[in-house]
Amino acid sequence: MSPVPSMSSTLPSLVDPQFVADPFAQLAWLREHDPVHWDEALGTWFITRYEDVRRFFSDPRLSTDRRLARSYRPAPPESWLFHFEQSSIISADPEGHRRWRHRLSAGFTPRAVRRMDQQVRDIVEEFAAPLRGQTGEVDLLAAFTDPIPNTVIGRITGIPPYPGDEARFRSLAQQMMQRFTFFADAAKIERGNAAIEELAEWVMKLADERRQTRADDLLSDLIHGNAGDEALTNREIVVLVAGLVAAGSETTTLGGTQVIRHLLKHPGELARVRADRSLVRNAVREALRFDFGSLAAVNMRFATEPIELAGQTIRPGDMLMLSPASANRDPSVFPDPDRFDVGRDTRDVVSFGHGPRYCLGANLAMQEMACMLEAALDFLPEDARLVEHEADWEQIGIMRRPLRLVVDFGPERRCG
Ligand code: HEM
Repeated sequence: MSPVPSMSSTLPSLVDPQFVADPFAQLAWLREHDPVHWDEALGTWFITRYEDVRRFFSDPRLSTDRRLARSYRPAPPESWLFHFEQSSIISADPEGHRRWRHRLSAGFTPRAVRRMDQQVRDIVEEFAAPLRGQTGEVDLLAAFTDPIPNTVIGRITGIPPYPGDEARFRSLAQQMMQRFTFFADAAKIERGNAAIEELAEWVMKLADERRQTRADDLLSDLIHGNAGDEALTNREIVVLVAGLVAAGSETTTLGGTQVIRHLLKHPGELARVRADRSLVRNAVREALRFDFGSLAAVNMRFATEPIELAGQTIRPGDMLMLSPASANRDPSVFPDPDRFDVGRDTRDVVSFGHGPRYCLGANLAMQEMACMLEAALDFLPEDARLVEHEADWEQIGIMRRPLRLVVDFGPERRCG
């Protein structure tokens, strides 16, 4: 039985291109009048108030396991996709989830994070150096914000830094990631499935090598683990690495892109950060709050028990989309929420989730985005200008991802 439609079922669907392009007025309306909204076209509940989003992130009556979706069709057994669906950190039950988190923590010890910190700085510098002194229009997504997060994941994992290999790893990671968006079309699914198989075989081979010879990288840390842990199998290693790639690349690209984009759109705020670099990290968090790629940041849940909320009944098996994009603009938590303000209190931002599934890579992602912004402040001339066209965006379901971030660096400058 499908849920009772809400009063606002006459609203445009969440996939309506106009809503996806500029959702904030409608999100404000939903928060006020229909905070537990049923979207008929998508067959999902859409949760918009801060308090509900934050609570539902860790509500034990809700699961992240996509196999509970009514539309779920299992992948062919023995495909890598099947293993991901059966045994990833996302599909694990609470006990299994605790075990995965513990195992992953072996890759995020203080020593490992220090190593990553230096790797992040080196990688950002690699991509920033050719941008210094540039003139004319430059696509910063292609040249800067897109390659950095995938290169970081590849290098911390232990993918050898040969240019050909890294580019291939990046492209496979991206195809895999796009396959997992809920609204991927058939072509993306097919490309993504092939990418998963290739990536998995690659990581399997590397894992074999690291079993023989330990290196200073995440694969070795995961394989050799915490003292007293049962050894992970190569198959588990592949699922873990694929999970990190899926969770950590596109998200950080989007965050890095949005922080540069919104600072260029708000010259007064950009001037504040230029004048006081201690604002860099808060500017990043503010960009995540203000507009993390419009609706891109939704988090799925599936009800395992009936839930009553705001006059609606959520039934077992129903899908819910939690919307941090909306929660982060809730005026009950963020005064004057539609103002982009790099100095505001961003401690309550829920872009990285909340509770036991709080983003495992949040520190790494913040480090990457802050480093990207620091470098951008150095290579962008004072009069750099954002050049935006509608064609710079692609809509995938309710997500909207930038295809380009074109910035005009201005004419050639003479020294002295
Ligand atoms: C701007 C960048 C990022 C954002 C906004 C982000 C956001 C999130 C959110 C909202 C969740 C919670 C999902 C849920 O409760 O359904 C999450 C989980 C996760 N994130 Fe991130 N993330 C980012 C970058 C990264 C990076 C760089 C990595 C790793 C290298 C990473 C690894 C993970 C993992 C493994 C989980 C699953 C945790 C669990 O289920 O216990 N993320 N992330």
